Amino acid sequence: MPLFGKDLGINLGTVNTLICEGDEIALHEPTVVAIDVEESKIVEVGQAAREMDGRVPEAIQIMRPMRDGVIADFGVTQRLLGHFIEKVCGPARLFKPRVMITIPYGVTSVESRAVHEAGLQAGSREVHLIQEPLAGAIGSGLPVATPSGNLVVDLGGGVTQAAVLAMSGIVAAGAVRSGGLRLDDAIIGYVRKKYGLIIGQRTAEEAKIRIGAAIPQEEERTMEVQGQDQVTGLPRPITLTTNEIVEALQETLQLQLASIRNVLEHTPPELASDIIDRGMLVCGGGALLRGIDKWLTRETGVPAYLAEEPTACIAKGSAKALGMLERLRRSLPPV
Ligand SMILES: Nc1ncnc2c1ncn2[C@@H]1O[C@H](COP(=O)(O)OP(=O)(O)OP(=O)(O)O)[C@@H](O)[C@H]1O
Ligand SMILES: [Mg+2]
Repeated sequence: MPLFGKDLGINLGTVNTLICEGDEIALHEPTVVAIDVEESKIVEVGQAAREMDGRVPEAIQIMRPMRDGVIADFGVTQRLLGHFIEKVCGPARLFKPRVMITIPYGVTSVESRAVHEAGLQAGSREVHLIQEPLAGAIGSGLPVATPSGNLVVDLGGGVTQAAVLAMSGIVAAGAVRSGGLRLDDAIIGYVRKKYGLIIGQRTAEEAKIRIGAAIPQEEERTMEVQGQDQVTGLPRPITLTTNEIVEALQETLQLQLASIRNVLEHTPPELASDIIDRGMLVCGGGALLRGIDKWLTRETGVPAYLAEEPTACIAKGSAKALGMLERLRRSLPPV
C-alpha cells in the first residue's frame, strides 16, 4: 500500500477508459460525455452518457473528447478523467493518486504533454506516461525485460499499433490513426452503397461485434438492422450476414495492417527470428473480432495469438509499470 494515495493505471482510450488498481480493474467505462451545449456543462459521464445517446433533446450533445487516440477536447477530457478518478478514489481525496496513463505509440510531444497535464488537473499527485503496446505486454506477462524480441499489436478503437519490445524498451514500432471506429464507418459505407440505406454508428458496431469477422467463418450469422432509406427517407429493415461484414471490413483492415507490416520490415534480423518463433500478441478491443488471429497470421506470416484479457491487460500493465519506474526509465516517453 503506497504511503500517499493510490497507485492507478489508466488506459485512456478513444472508445473506453479503464482504471486499474493493483491487479483489479476498478473502472471500465466508455470515454463519452453528455454536454448541455447552451450552458456548456457536463451532465453525464461514461456509461450513463452513452446510454443517453440518441435519446436526448438537441440541447444535449453526446461526444467523445478523444479522437484517434489523442485528446481532441482538453477541457472535457480533463473533467472526464477527474470524474473517473474521483469515482475510484472517493470524493474526499486527502491523498491524491499517483497515476500511469497510456498514450498511443508515435504521438507528438504536444499530444503527450496534453495527457500529462490533463492527468495533473484531474487531481493526480504525479503523472507518468506509457505507450499502449508496452503496457499491454507488461499486463499480459510477456518477458519484456529479456533480450529476446516480442511483438505486440494493439487494435484499439481509434488507433492500430504494433511494437517490437526487447530489454524493457521499444525497438521498432508503428501506428496508424485508424481503429475499430473506422471499421464501423466501413460497414456504414457498405450498407449505404449496397442497399441505399443509412444506418447509425451504434448499429454498425453492433453488427461488427455480433456477426462480424475478419475472415469468412464456418458459422455464418445474420442480423436484422434498421436503417433509413436514402431516397424515401423512410425506415426499412435489411438482414446482414457475416460474409457481408467480412467484405465490408477488408479495405480498412488492410490499411491498418500497414502499420504492422511496416514494423516487421524495420525489425532487426535477430529479433525477427525470435518473433517468428514466439508469435505476436494481439490486444485491444479489436482482438475480439472473430478470426482476427487467423487473418493476421495469414497476412503477416507471423503466428498471432490473443491476449488472455485483450482490453484489461493494457490498464493492468500500466498499473504494474508504476512499480517498475526505474527499470522502464529509458523506455517511457518524457513529460
Ligand atoms: N467482439 C468484438 N468484435 C469486434 N470489435 C470489437 C469487439 N468488442 C469490442 N470491439 C471494438 O473494440 C474497440 C474498442 O477497443 P479498445 O477499448 O481497445 O479501444 P480504445 O483503447 O478505447 O481506443 P484506442 O486505444 O485506439 O485509443 C471498439 O471499436 C469496439 O467496437
Ligand atoms: Mg486502447
